[in-house]
Amino acid sequence: GQIDKGGYKHFMSKEIAEQPRVLTEVIGYYLSDDATRINLPENGFDFKTIDRLTMVACGTAFYACLTAKYWFEQIAGMPVEVDIASEFRYREPPITERTAALFVSQSGETADTLAALRYCEGKADSILSVVNVPTSSIARESNLALPIMAGPEIGVASTKAFTCQLTVLYLMALKAAHDKGRLSDTELADRLSELRSLPSAVNAALALDKSLAHAGLKLSEAQDVLFLGRGLMYPLALEGALKLKEISYIHAEAYASGELKHGPIALIDKSMPVVVKAPRDALFEKTVSNMQEVMARDGKVILITDAAGAAEAGDEAWITIVMPTAPAALTPILYAIPAQLLAYHTAVAKGTDVDQPRNLAKSVTVE
Ligand code: G6P
Repeated sequence: GQIDKGGYKHFMSKEIAEQPRVLTEVIGYYLSDDATRINLPENGFDFKTIDRLTMVACGTAFYACLTAKYWFEQIAGMPVEVDIASEFRYREPPITERTAALFVSQSGETADTLAALRYCEGKADSILSVVNVPTSSIARESNLALPIMAGPEIGVASTKAFTCQLTVLYLMALKAAHDKGRLSDTELADRLSELRSLPSAVNAALALDKSLAHAGLKLSEAQDVLFLGRGLMYPLALEGALKLKEISYIHAEAYASGELKHGPIALIDKSMPVVVKAPRDALFEKTVSNMQEVMARDGKVILITDAAGAAEAGDEAWITIVMPTAPAALTPILYAIPAQLLAYHTAVAKGTDVDQPRNLAKSVTVE
């Protein structure tokens, strides 16, 4: 058929492997020919008339939104609210006129997200969406629908759609920052050239497959796994825990590293692996000290870091995965790869149905 596994064992592994190509495509789609500007279809939408962004989604798309909050706040200086669609719509939040409401959905058909969009109609300045299916209900009911160009995603657990969503959201944050005068032309061009080298870094991260298969085999024996991250790595810790529970059925939860001492540290013992995502960035020292608190209680740490981070703290961990180095803002897209591969290999080791996990649907069109 038109959509087959192309020699891969699962759709999920095929879709993970496709990421360098689909990321190259989505980046190419939104960049000007000289790759110094971002082309977003305007449709009457203008970031200069927007003071606030409200982002709404479910599942993996929600974690893409949580990541984007950091980008919009730090790069564009825009206040951002992020909400789960099912909570947002029943809380009846007030929407001010200078708010853009942004809905992220792979399928574009998730019932709660669509209902949240309809709630914002007539209240928000504009309804924006980031979707994989341009003909979907969410796309059709938006003032501006931005495609993520990931191609069909068959595996129930989202992989390439997540990294493509992140890429489009990052481009939107850069565009907002540039339009609002917070990024100069040169700064924008520099950021875009960094982004263009992302697919090759993703390719290098995919080459860590063997080490992640080894780590997955170890994780497959666990009953519970804790994921920790700070800053941009916090939403990614949430996504890593979601991926693991979706396909391996291992109980996993994620915490912001700084919250460790406010509860989850009570769970730590030798039977609870802790996955720590920490590139060597401004927050690294703090994360390392959280990691040491885990190890002091016999917790086994899987540290996912870069060469500089591994040199500083790699010896202390149970397993260290050394990632390619990337500009800080791009680490969420890059560190999604080991999150996906770790969940994938854990599930394969457990023998679960990776592409069709029990009780889950690819698109949830009922409430
Ligand atoms: C389901 C899928 C998830 C997905 C979520 C939101 O729960 O299993 O992988 O993240 O729906 O779907 P959407 O199509 O709105 O992104």
